[in-house]
Amino acid sequence: MSIALVILAAGKGTRMNSDLPKVLHPIAGAPLLHHAMRTGAALEPERTIVVAGHQADQVQAAALEFDHTAEVLMQTEQLGTGHAVDQAREALKGFKGDVVVLFGDTPFLKPETLERMIAARRHHDVVVLGFDIAQVQPRYGRLVMDGDRLAKIVEYKDATEEERQIRFTNSGLMACDATLLFDLIANLSNNNASGEYYLTEVPELANARGAKVTAVKCDEAETLGVDSRKDLAGAEAIYQKNARTALLEDGVTLTAPDTVFLSFDTAIGRDATIEPNVVFGPGVTIESGATIRAFSHLEGCHVSRGTMVGPYARLRPGAELSEDVHIGNFVEIKNAQIGTGTKVNHLSYIGDATLGAGTNIGAGTITCNYDGVMKHHTHIGDNVFIGSNTMLVAPVSVGNEAMTGSGSVITKNVPDTALALSRAEQTNKPGVALKLFEMLKKKKQKLISGAK
Ligand code: UD1
Repeated sequence: MSIALVILAAGKGTRMNSDLPKVLHPIAGAPLLHHAMRTGAALEPERTIVVAGHQADQVQAAALEFDHTAEVLMQTEQLGTGHAVDQAREALKGFKGDVVVLFGDTPFLKPETLERMIAARRHHDVVVLGFDIAQVQPRYGRLVMDGDRLAKIVEYKDATEEERQIRFTNSGLMACDATLLFDLIANLSNNNASGEYYLTEVPELANARGAKVTAVKCDEAETLGVDSRKDLAGAEAIYQKNARTALLEDGVTLTAPDTVFLSFDTAIGRDATIEPNVVFGPGVTIESGATIRAFSHLEGCHVSRGTMVGPYARLRPGAELSEDVHIGNFVEIKNAQIGTGTKVNHLSYIGDATLGAGTNIGAGTITCNYDGVMKHHTHIGDNVFIGSNTMLVAPVSVGNEAMTGSGSVITKNVPDTALALSRAEQTNKPGVALKLFEMLKKKKQKLISGAK
């Protein structure tokens, strides 16, 4: 069966108190909207429609970044969830299949749950996703069941005292035959406590037509939505906790799990070790047996088997470390490939560079990659020894088995096996230090007595 996702993301999110649209606030490095789109993508939808309102251009850019085939539609006035879905009427004209309505601010929904909804659709015309709330709350629509049949949904504001005691509540998600859905939505009224066109009126209207309506149940945790910064922080904490547990179960050692922060796509192999206070931005892959030492920050990089990073290292996008590499304290690597067994152990910046295998980069080495206007590349070969505090002024290349003297500023290519030295020659002046000390002491004495 063909599926069209309709993701509602037009709400202002007033309680976020933000210039950024609510659905673009991130959890684990990805906007809420992407989490919803990722879950929906598991159904392999033929169409993905995002209904945007506030700052629609930003929402559109984010939707297209995730899926360039996504269609973003405008809901200029937010007149309710039913009205929001109605915005897709024209776009889905002639579409034969199911519409699955998702919310853009609900990041924990599991793909399996959507699959269960689709499975239930085989025997029902409308399927609503519900959950049992642990405590009765003055929000959420209540699902009024009649055996397996969902008789109707009543919004909390419109419910009787008796209905408000129902624990089976509406997640807001719905799967329905497209033709039937748009037929029913055309008949929604806004004659309710909020004066909105509720999507939740659909089950009752469907029943009146003799259609089969039911509800599928999921865990309350899956339906958690984000309305405020407090919710966002809470959702982040839940995401992190779950992601850390999943890594531990996959055989990754986290010395202090609560201090490690992961992104939605962090991939870490079995028997890797992550020490305390490590932050993973998006796009990081770590192979088995690698070690990331304390207080390191990684994003958009790859770390191979047996490689050691940190403590206090920063790997930026495009850092690709081969096997048995050592990246030490206060080292930053950006857009650079580091060959097998190469060591950059202390206080260095390696950016826009290729380093061969078995090379040693001395403390304080800098690839001077930026001339103020453009970025340039540095190439360093195999088994090279770069002396401490070498400045490599790119574009420049250092050949295999070459060497640079400490403190050199390398502006010309260094051939294979050559020693490059570019620093002023040292001269020793006998006894001059002693004389200087005496002169300075006298000067200090004079200043002190002058001040009295
Ligand atoms: C909705 C349900 C409620 C359910 C709850 C679960 C309705 C009428 N009520 O209530 O039964 O228990 O979700 O969280 O559906 N949106 C738009 N355009 C609009 C209105 C809303 O795009 O005109 C979007 C919002 O951005 C949000 C989602 O729809 O992502 C839900 O809207 P919201 O107003 O938060 O619905 P609730 O009052 O929570």
